[in-house]
This record gives sequence, structure tokens and C-alpha cells, in this order.
Amino acid sequence: MPVLVVNVDHVATLRQQRKGIEPEPVTAAHMAELAGARGIIVHLREDRRHIMDRDVDILCHCLNTRLHLEMAATPEMQQIALRTNPYMVCLVPEKREELTTEGGLAVAGREKHLHDYLAPIHAKGIKSSLFIEADEAQIDAAKAVGSEFIEIHTGHFADAKTQQAQQAEFEKIVRGIEYARSLDLRVNLGHGLNYTNIFMFKDVPGIDEYSIGHSIISRAVLTGLDRAVRDMCDIIRTFAE
Ligand code: PXP
Repeated sequence: MPVLVVNVDHVATLRQQRKGIEPEPVTAAHMAELAGARGIIVHLREDRRHIMDRDVDILCHCLNTRLHLEMAATPEMQQIALRTNPYMVCLVPEKREELTTEGGLAVAGREKHLHDYLAPIHAKGIKSSLFIEADEAQIDAAKAVGSEFIEIHTGHFADAKTQQAQQAEFEKIVRGIEYARSLDLRVNLGHGLNYTNIFMFKDVPGIDEYSIGHSIISRAVLTGLDRAVRDMCDIIRTFAE
């Protein structure tokens, strides 16, 4: 049965807008666990625009489920992964100017480099995943790298402007899942999945995890707003007339 792994980067984005202490992504992670998430994902970016080193340090110690550390394949991130010991690292491409991860990692042609990069991480018992397009050449390359998992990028599917385009992207992802499973790779999906488009995958076998952030945090803002406003109204109502 596939499970949900929740990305709490967007909670940290809100915190970093004021560079203060709220909202706390660690609390959000615990709430997601209590609600049934089977793991938590954070992307520690080179520019530290949302998740901070201390978030990773704390989450590594206090989660009841498991931490997936999304990161670029840089020497700095390798050291952080080795020090913090997450359940899994997911290698993603990273550009400073992008709003979010824009596409899959180019693994083909870099198999040896990525294999060697991950070797000390695997030696510590940390699993790895490669965030890639549903493309046979990239899937073959991921297998050659020695990662147990791939995460197929669902962003083009989520962003498709027409039903036809979305169907074509969906079919490409399904072919990618089948191909990866035939190579004994485990398959996660992520990027742009929401409360509507996820239904397309309901009968698709071979998916381990759905990695979802933005749509869940966006919904939480709205479903939680009523309570938040009422709480403040209640306080103000207690003030002297
Ligand atoms: N998987 C990867 C590799 C990502 O980079 C992201 C975005 O941080 C996600 C999953 C989650 O995407 P979304 O926030 O659109 O649900």
C-alpha cells in the first residue's frame, strides 16, 4: 500500500519571511505524523531559504516516523547527511534562482560520480533516492548508481494545461513506474500532487510513497484559518469595553 510522506518546507518558508520562530516546522512535522503521515521530508537548500540546519538536526532526533532529506549532490550536503543520519537522502537538482525544484536530476552520464558520492552515505545505512524524470535512460542510470529508490517527478503532469497533455504525462509516468519496477527499483512520486490530480494514480500499482508538500500546507492555511481567527476574536472579546 502506498503511503504519504509530507514535505514541511513551506512551513519553514513562512517562518523565514520574518526570520522568527513561528510557524515551527518541527511542530508541523509532528502534527503530520499524528495525522497519519509515514514520514517527513525537508529540502535543505544551499541558500537556506526555508529549512535551516537546526531543523534537520532536531527532526533527525525527534521524529517517530522517518526523515527524508532532500538535497543537492554537493560536498557540504554529503557531510550534513553523514552527520545527521536521516532515513533517506533524495538527490535533487538545485538552482538558486528557481522557485521550487524544476525538473529531474540528470543522472545519465554521471553514474560513477553519483555512485561514489552516495557510497559513504550507503555505507552508513542511509537509503537513497534520485529525483528523476520518467525516462528510461534516467531510470537505467539510477539503477547503475545503486539507489534503492527513485522519485519520479510529477511536476509536468501537475502543470499540464490540457486534459490531453495531462493524460500523456500520466501515461509516461506509469510507463516509468513499470520500467523501474522491472529493474527492482522502488518508486516514489512527487511534485505538484494535490487533492484532485492524485486520483489519477489510484489504480496504478508499484508506488511506494507520495511525497506532497505545497497542496497540503495550502489546504492547512485555509482549513485552519477559521479556528485561528476565532481564537483571536475570543481573546479580544475578553478585553475591557
Ligand atoms: N519531491 C521533490 C523532490 C520536491 O523537490 C518537492 C518540492 O519540494 C516535492 C516532492 C513536493 O512537491 P510539492 O510541494 O509540489 O507537493
